Amino acid sequence: MWLMPSTPSRAQRRMASGSKDFSARLAETPKALEQWLAVLVEAGADAFHLSQPKFWQPAFPEIDGELNLAGWAKKLTGVTAITVGAVGLSGDVYESFGGKIAQRTPLDELLKRLERDEFDLVAVGRPLLQDPAWLEKVRQNRVEQIADFTPTAFATMS
Ligand SMILES: Cc1cc2nc3c(=O)[nH]c(=O)nc-3n(C[C@H](O)[C@H](O)[C@H](O)COP(=O)(O)O)c2cc1C
Repeated sequence: MWLMPSTPSRAQRRMASGSKDFSARLAETPKALEQWLAVLVEAGADAFHLSQPKFWQPAFPEIDGELNLAGWAKKLTGVTAITVGAVGLSGDVYESFGGKIAQRTPLDELLKRLERDEFDLVAVGRPLLQDPAWLEKVRQNRVEQIADFTPTAFATMS
């Protein structure tokens, strides 16, 4: 858990600026990922929350064209895995820090992956900043009432 600032921090704005490099990975191979996750499993971790800018991006595309980072964690350890990253949105959080609007998108891809147990749980960040009723609207199939994410919603954090 961390404390959320009321506006994007300098570091977050820097991440959104032109010099970012998101090619870096937590681990370069599934084997390397397995090695450091094993330490956390051994220490008693109950769940892994593996953040990605976009949940649909494969973690190791050279091996599997679909499986995301939470999916790999679950596959490698059997531990509960939580995914996050642009759920229901067209653009990632760094683009939003940079001032871009992210459009609402369908949840079909997410549901497909949940149904095949790629991961167990789903976290959402910006959708709840934009609209505290997001989950209710999804549950009640009122998704057309969900607005696009506008970066001004960052200012609602307090
Ligand atoms: C204002 C703000 C602050 C954040 N701070 C952190 C952080 O300190 N560490 C971290 O790992 N992720 C941080 N995140 C990323 C979120 O946990 C989440 O992974 C990200 O927003 C993607 O989810 P979303 O696309 O649903 O917004 C932050 C996100 C926001 C909007």
